[in-house]
Amino acid sequence: MRKKIIAANWKMNMTVGETEGFFKPFLLELGGEKQVEVVIVPPFTSLAKAGEILRNVQNVKLGAQNMSAEKSGAFTGEISAAMLRELFVRYVVLGHSERRTIFGETDEIVNKKTHAAHAATLRPIVCIGETLAERDGNQVEAVLEKQIRGSLAGLSADQLEETVIAYEPVWAIGTGRTATPQQAQDAHAFIRRKLTELWDAATADKVRIQYGGSVKPANTAELMSQPDIDGALVGGASLDPRGFAEIVLATVKLAN
Ligand code: PGA
Repeated sequence: MRKKIIAANWKMNMTVGETEGFFKPFLLELGGEKQVEVVIVPPFTSLAKAGEILRNVQNVKLGAQNMSAEKSGAFTGEISAAMLRELFVRYVVLGHSERRTIFGETDEIVNKKTHAAHAATLRPIVCIGETLAERDGNQVEAVLEKQIRGSLAGLSADQLEETVIAYEPVWAIGTGRTATPQQAQDAHAFIRRKLTELWDAATADKVRIQYGGSVKPANTAELMSQPDIDGALVGGASLDPRGFAEIVLATVKLAN
């Protein structure tokens, strides 16, 4: 059984003050819930504050939105894996579609970062997904396969098991347009088949594949009840502490 993982991708939102304001109502709503893994992914500037608040909280982990593939040195504006580890960060989102399209990250760059994350025992959440034009052109499987082969190249089976894949159709991100549960399930099943082919069935069976793209409380249960959907990467709806708790709790309900 794969434990579901729900992550809050705050993107470039939430000051340190707003981060503090988020946790009180969120932790209150969440209670001691442990059946679903919860990861909060704030901007870099809020990581220290979030880490301080979460120090004694067992059931909420911390993630970062990006990191450098380099260890240290003359890379102005970059953040290293060791810097994140020091702040008790456990997960790092890599290759988000905004990084790929706005900042030109290629599969090769994402792959380097994925290896750097594992080397530092950070768990990568590697994002893949097609654009609307690619979906309309029946390219979904070809695009996903290329991203899987490129972004995850050279990972051992053990490393792959510790990697989370986020399937985020670009046309569903921040648009209010969610993939239907069937569209999402089909893509997830395809991703798992590819992992089976490129690694092996036992490993593919353990990898958690999150869905991302306009997830909100109202569509959570339907999406999360699909057999190959193992969690969600939530953007806009994760900024509201009560709404995000609702998403987590709706997922917990399915586990029972
Ligand atoms: P959204 O973003 O939930 O606002 O669509 C998801 C993401 O980009 O991770």
